[in-house]
Amino acid sequence: MRFNSYDISYMRFALQISSKEQGQVWPNPSVGCVVVSPKDKNLKQLDIIVGTGYTGKNGIPHAEVAALSEAKGKTVGSILYVTLEPCCHFGKTSPCTKEIIKNGISRVVIAMIDPNPLVSGKGIKELEDNGVEVLVGCCEKEAIIQNSGFISRITKNRPFVSLKLAVTKDNFICSSVKGRLKITSQKVDEYIHALRAKYDGLLIGNGTFMKDNPKLNVRLQGYDNHTPCKFILSSTGEIDSGSNLFMGRFDRPLYLIIGNEVTEAKINQLKENNINIIQVESDQQKGLLSLEETLYKIGDIGINKLLIEPGINLFKNLIKENIPDDIYIFKSKTNIGNEGIFIKEFEDLFADSNANFKLSYKREVFDCELIYYKKRVGDN
Ligand SMILES: NC(=O)c1ccc[n+]([C@@H]2O[C@H](COP(=O)([O-])OP(=O)(O)OC[C@H]3O[C@@H](n4cnc5c(N)ncnc54)[C@H](OP(=O)(O)O)[C@@H]3O)[C@@H](O)[C@H]2O)c1
Repeated sequence: MRFNSYDISYMRFALQISSKEQGQVWPNPSVGCVVVSPKDKNLKQLDIIVGTGYTGKNGIPHAEVAALSEAKGKTVGSILYVTLEPCCHFGKTSPCTKEIIKNGISRVVIAMIDPNPLVSGKGIKELEDNGVEVLVGCCEKEAIIQNSGFISRITKNRPFVSLKLAVTKDNFICSSVKGRLKITSQKVDEYIHALRAKYDGLLIGNGTFMKDNPKLNVRLQGYDNHTPCKFILSSTGEIDSGSNLFMGRFDRPLYLIIGNEVTEAKINQLKENNINIIQVESDQQKGLLSLEETLYKIGDIGINKLLIEPGINLFKNLIKENIPDDIYIFKSKTNIGNEGIFIKEFEDLFADSNANFKLSYKREVFDCELIYYKKRVGDN
């Protein structure tokens, strides 16, 4: 085997720390790096970690630069483990390859090649050309999962899309008579907020915005400032100035996704109110916005991972168009009876559409069952 158990352990450690600022580093990927000083047999020393780093907020610093700066003075002859190929181009920061070479690192172990054509393979070549030994592919599968958002945006021009839906035991997703139907307990809500914190963006439909007046933030101890950017699909761009999302628009960027027919005067008024606008085509007959174009435009902003918390109509259309990459269903253990909006069994729903999802696991999350589906490999 090309990688020994130490390589695998250090890379797993790098993968673990890579997610430290997940949700805050876009458009960059969340990278982790560990610098290890090898054992010196004469001094009977064991190899030791001399530096760790992860991509910081807004992509600064890069993981390698953070780890090398922590390892200052102990980098010559050391091994650097990194979850993505080091960059070799000038962006917001100078190239990591130059820093690695300058610091005298002798061996670089990389989990996966960067899918970005500006880097892909070129970072490795530059290191090798400068006498650094490079090994690629250590824990590659895990790294591909960890970088799924960045890979999706770079290779498909759209973010990795997850759906989250809460359903009652008898498959209702909302009430038709009362106000908002509370399906999940506070503990499960906290679990969901930790999930939200991993995403760069959160998107809802206008129906949910109007009926629920959500805040769409992360309300969880220790996760202040982890609220993702917020997106609302709203053809006409109407937004109540008393709504929670309008009032929270200075905390995190708020985007309204509107139809092309909204007037310039209206758009200017929204922009003056610190609301960002994305305009997309809408279906003339149904008046619905193009979900595909929405995703491309959200990808253009640099969002790598998007969590959609759809109401019934948005959920059905997303499934019909086979859009999500994975789906989190939180199923409570209580029935609500026969009033409300009912959703079919998911397998039936998938069978009625183009969607091709595979049940990945079911697990208990406090008083709920979490059912997790993944898009089958090979499906777009
Ligand atoms: N159980 C859960 O997990 C959960 C999660 C969220 C919401 N809900 C519940 O769901 C209910 C709202 O559901 P809903 O069906 O009325 O609203 P929704 O699915 O949240 O939003 C649908 C609206 O989004 C806009 N939209 C624009 N383009 C679209 C497209 N291509 N496909 C779908 N929608 C598009 C349309 O409004 P415009 O015409 O204004 O553009 C449309 O009416 C609420 O009662 C809420 O409590 C439940």
